[in-house]
Amino acid sequence: MNHPHISPKFIQLLTFSAFLALLPWDLAYADPPYSFCPNTSNYTDGDQFQKNLNDVLHFLTSNASASKFYDSSTGNGTDHVYGAHMCLNYITNETCRDCIATAAQDILQVCPNTREAVVWEEVCQLRYSNQNFFGQVNVTGNIGLDNQQNISQPEQFKSVVKETLNNLTTEASAFNLSAKLMYATGEAAFEDKTIYALVQCTRDLSGDGCNSCLQTAITDVLNCCYFSIGARLLSRSCYLRYELYSFYGDASKSPSSTNDQGASGGKKMRTIITLMVVSACFALVLFASFIYCLVKKKAIKRVREGISRQANTRSDAGFPRIDLASIQAATDNFSDSNKLGEGGFGPVYKGILSDGKEVAVKRLSCCSEQGSEEFTNEVLLIMRLQHKNLVKLLGFCIDGEEKLLVYEFMPNRSLDVFLFDRSRRAQMDWNKRVNIIGGIARGVLYLHEDSRLRIIHRDLKASNVLLDYDLNPKIADFGMARIFAGTEGEANTAKIAGTFGYMAPEYAMQGTYSIKSDVFSFGVLLIEIITGRRNVGFHRTKRAPSLVAFAWTLWNEGNHVLELMDPMLKEESCSPDEFLRYLHIGLLCVQEDANERPTMSSVVVMLKSDSTTTSLCQPQQPAFSVGRFTDHYETSSPGFLSVNDLSISNVGPR
Ligand SMILES: *[C@@H]1O[C@H](CO)[C@@H](O)[C@H](O)[C@H]1NC(C)=O
Ligand SMILES: *[C@@H]1O[C@H](CO)[C@@H](O)[C@H](O)[C@H]1NC(C)=O
Ligand SMILES: *[C@@H]1O[C@H](CO)[C@@H](O)[C@H](O)[C@H]1NC(C)=O
Ligand SMILES: *[C@@H]1O[C@H](CO)[C@@H](O)[C@H](O)[C@H]1NC(C)=O
Ligand SMILES: *[C@@H]1O[C@H](CO)[C@@H](O)[C@H](O)[C@H]1NC(C)=O
Ligand SMILES: *[C@@H]1O[C@H](CO)[C@@H](O)[C@H](O)[C@H]1NC(C)=O
Ligand SMILES: *[C@@H]1O[C@H](CO)[C@@H](O)[C@H](O)[C@H]1NC(C)=O
Ligand SMILES: *[C@@H]1O[C@H](CO)[C@@H](O)[C@H](O)[C@H]1NC(C)=O
Ligand SMILES: *[C@@H]1O[C@H](CO)[C@@H](O)[C@H](O)[C@H]1NC(C)=O
Repeated sequence: MNHPHISPKFIQLLTFSAFLALLPWDLAYADPPYSFCPNTSNYTDGDQFQKNLNDVLHFLTSNASASKFYDSSTGNGTDHVYGAHMCLNYITNETCRDCIATAAQDILQVCPNTREAVVWEEVCQLRYSNQNFFGQVNVTGNIGLDNQQNISQPEQFKSVVKETLNNLTTEASAFNLSAKLMYATGEAAFEDKTIYALVQCTRDLSGDGCNSCLQTAITDVLNCCYFSIGARLLSRSCYLRYELYSFYGDASKSPSSTNDQGASGGKKMRTIITLMVVSACFALVLFASFIYCLVKKKAIKRVREGISRQANTRSDAGFPRIDLASIQAATDNFSDSNKLGEGGFGPVYKGILSDGKEVAVKRLSCCSEQGSEEFTNEVLLIMRLQHKNLVKLLGFCIDGEEKLLVYEFMPNRSLDVFLFDRSRRAQMDWNKRVNIIGGIARGVLYLHEDSRLRIIHRDLKASNVLLDYDLNPKIADFGMARIFAGTEGEANTAKIAGTFGYMAPEYAMQGTYSIKSDVFSFGVLLIEIITGRRNVGFHRTKRAPSLVAFAWTLWNEGNHVLELMDPMLKEESCSPDEFLRYLHIGLLCVQEDANERPTMSSVVVMLKSDSTTTSLCQPQQPAFSVGRFTDHYETSSPGFLSVNDLSISNVGPR
């Protein structure tokens, strides 16, 4: 059943790991968020301004995955709120969405109740004001950030940096259609090194506005960070940065050498380690690409044969086939207005069948061969499965190039839509969350143990949990599941196609997956649900490269562990003991050692038990996000404890 097959996702993952390995340089910078909160008038909780602000932040967050820049305004008179976001042009849509979601949370925390605010995260910025700022440049409050390593000949270095930035400014502000991105990157040689630079303006500016914003930024950055080998300048309508390594796009361009003068021994060590990791990752990427090319042809052929066999035998399985014409009619010929979203291997449309039934139709991208295998798999598997916490497959259609799956329609979309949106999350009180967690657990348990087949989901995450009218969870997307024969409990695959942040370490690194890999993903999901935060994109401090790492650190320190509770739960009936019990179960599920993780049936029992009657065993160190470099903690600075240093015996709150 399992043929070796390396997906492009795997290669992306490796590239991403290589990118993450570059982080140690970035960590020479202070931690985001950086903010500017002018001391203007304040709004009060519950007033119209706050409502309008929430709307604007919601609009910006929901548009961030589709656009690197967006502005929005709402309200009248003194309650008018103007807002805008900008993501650096080189990041992906998903990273942009996650970054803006983080920024929208941060902006309310770092600038509480102010009628004007700006926050900058690692790769994006978000601002709002009661004044209309669209198209205007205001350089008050510019922030310069220094890479903290000195260059040996600042004078010569700065003249090259300045010329490069000036050239890029001209390029970015050349106001014509092809330059509408208002973004430019470039390289320049300095001695034996390469300077990499980036400039970007918010797209509401005119060419002149962009030019004037960047000119001030250049002056400011040369002032603030004269000696530095790298720096960033954060302005409200523009951004610039330069470094001696490629920080945008191509992660394989690591520096040939970095400047040694003034760099501490620790930094040199980190550089060496990072270079090693980058090289290793790069070699892996090359190897994976090679294998991928080798295997792809065979795999495609096999899948094609599989599908035609499938199509021929399907009719006698007594399974409802739906013809293409009915589906086209139901979805208004796959019109954009009916599109619900983009799944792992194609778009999902809302449809209304001729009998009035609302359905969701998953359409395998017509021309991409990748995904066909998952498609066949999904049809085969789902038709055998019936559980109230699994999304129901109503029918399917294979017609030439078209391959379609028809599911029951879920009006409340997916869990991530609810969980990572402040206004919707407010509807999820503690009891609803307990119900969702329990439902997911029972659904996964059914897959693992109770169905006739043993199925490992392998891509359990918030966006694969759909919600019905009453917010009951239904697990979707079995595309990556595999059928296991009888007692076989673990398998090895060269194809790694999960989702960053939810993947168990043994799966992401060795391709070994078992039911315990799903338990890991479930643990991440549980912690996200009770904290209201995403595991990935969580980069609040150096101590907490991910939500799981942060949770582990607080758990060990004990006294601040309740800080993890979603603030929206504090106001109502969630008891601290209940919260701690759930967090405890979550941490047991994300333990690094797969053997230590509980099975799904124990999880279901633990979730049900009364906290007073059961004592859970203590969790051991969790695995942090794959590819994350845990060696970058500033062990030299007091107060920053390396996560690796944490003693396993020192566990448990209190
Ligand atoms: C902020 O403004 C208020 C009212 O104008 C003033 O009383 C307060 O001192 C200001 N605070 C700072 C830090 O400037
Ligand atoms: C607004 O609130 C902030 C923080 O609560 C406070 O520091 C500031 O002085 C307030 N400004 C005004 C004008 O009241
Ligand atoms: C931006 O968000 C709003 C509200 O969610 C939505 O109506 C609009 O279509 C979005 N625009 C884009 C370009 O996605
Ligand atoms: C990102 O969003 C842009 C704008 O909507 C779109 O053109 C592009 O295809 C998206 N990219 C990906 C990888 O989804
Ligand atoms: C703005 O004012 C108009 C007319 O007074 C009103 O209908 C509308 O609801 C107001 N909009 C907001 C967002 O307050
Ligand atoms: C620039 O922004 C500051 C603070 O937001 C504000 O006080 C000032 O009036 C603005 N300047 C201009 C020219 O708009
Ligand atoms: C800047 O642009 C000028 C004119 O196009 C070019 O001669 C010069 O080499 C450029 N400088 C850098 C550092 O790229
Ligand atoms: C438009 O912008 C591009 C990219 O910066 C530039 O190469 C081109 O010369 C510009 N065209 C005009 C007419 O200015
Ligand atoms: C960099 O050089 C400046 C000026 O000589 C000095 O004040 C600063 O301490 C140096 N920083 C480092 C990290 O060596």
